[in-house]
Amino acid sequence: MIAFEGVSKYYQGRPAVADLQLTCREGEFTVLVGTSGSGKSTTLKMANRLVECDSGVIRFAGADIRQLDPLQLRRRMGYVIQSTGLFPHWTVARNIATVPELLKWPGRQIARRVDELLELLGLDPEAFRDRYPHQLSGGQQQRVGVARALAADPQVLLMDEPFGALDPVNRGMLQQEIQRIQRRDGRTIVLVTHDVDEALLLADRLVLMDGGRIVQQGSPQTLLMHPQSPLVTDFFGQRETGLRLLALRQVRDCLRRGEWLEGCRQPLLESDSLKSALSQFIASGCQALPVVSDDGAPLGSVRLEDVLNYQGDDDAAAD
Ligand SMILES: Nc1ncnc2c1ncn2[C@@H]1O[C@H](COP(=O)(O)OP(=O)(O)O)[C@@H](O)[C@H]1O
Ligand SMILES: [Mg+2]
Repeated sequence: MIAFEGVSKYYQGRPAVADLQLTCREGEFTVLVGTSGSGKSTTLKMANRLVECDSGVIRFAGADIRQLDPLQLRRRMGYVIQSTGLFPHWTVARNIATVPELLKWPGRQIARRVDELLELLGLDPEAFRDRYPHQLSGGQQQRVGVARALAADPQVLLMDEPFGALDPVNRGMLQQEIQRIQRRDGRTIVLVTHDVDEALLLADRLVLMDGGRIVQQGSPQTLLMHPQSPLVTDFFGQRETGLRLLALRQVRDCLRRGEWLEGCRQPLLESDSLKSALSQFIASGCQALPVVSDDGAPLGSVRLEDVLNYQGDDDAAAD
């Protein structure tokens, strides 16, 4: 969907991005991760021509983006940044409607789309559509920022540290929300973060950058289990590798279906991560815990030994 072919960008003679080879595939969640100054934001901004590259070619759906009108290109790519960039004197509804208005959608269609997006992002349209940005919490503003980026149904969503300013609870909720939207619509998303756990949680394809170059790219499991350089190991924290692998897997991966346990133990959800399951094993002192589906139906059980022995899929061959 977006291909960077030998792309470089220099500032004052120094490369911010150097000879980048990267393909963000259609329907995939690509996450660019790396320390501050590693070239992540520059990469994202080159994709929608907020920054022009100095050499190489960037293709969007096969076309060299220099052949495309920048404004039209940006309408095909929603863009979300940390400081939401909402217009302070516009209501929530008008902020969300920015691009549909530019595209001259009929008023009724715009109003319907605004309400649909507010619902999608967990904001009650009645309560929120007529508010102004300063009447919202940080998390709510960020939701509106995401809704605005999705408004005209762009083919790609570019997100630069979109959850950076949020507290952990709101951050976790929005991460889940965006993952749900991505899976539901098979949307192509490219997200920038410097947060290791966020990157591992969201990425189909994880791209670790350093000094404007890609150090390694692949699935989260591949980077954790097969780091190609000490930089990768250091970035993900060697001592945390085991827990981070467990965080990538869910209770359903270890489920003993039908082995229902009697008793009053707090059950695990099938969608809980194995990391959180391990935490609940330690807290409860149990060797086995019951598992229910996300809507509460009994499914079976999980044993502590299964979690400890869980190796995960070694999918390195797939990258
Ligand atoms: N407009 C600019 N002018 C000069 N230098 C810049 C500009 N934008 C980015 N840089 C430099 O390019 C490098 C990469 O920046 P950036 O892409 O913002 O990194 P990241 O998003 O990974 O923190 C940094 O060294 C930064 O200082
Ligand atoms: Mg940045």
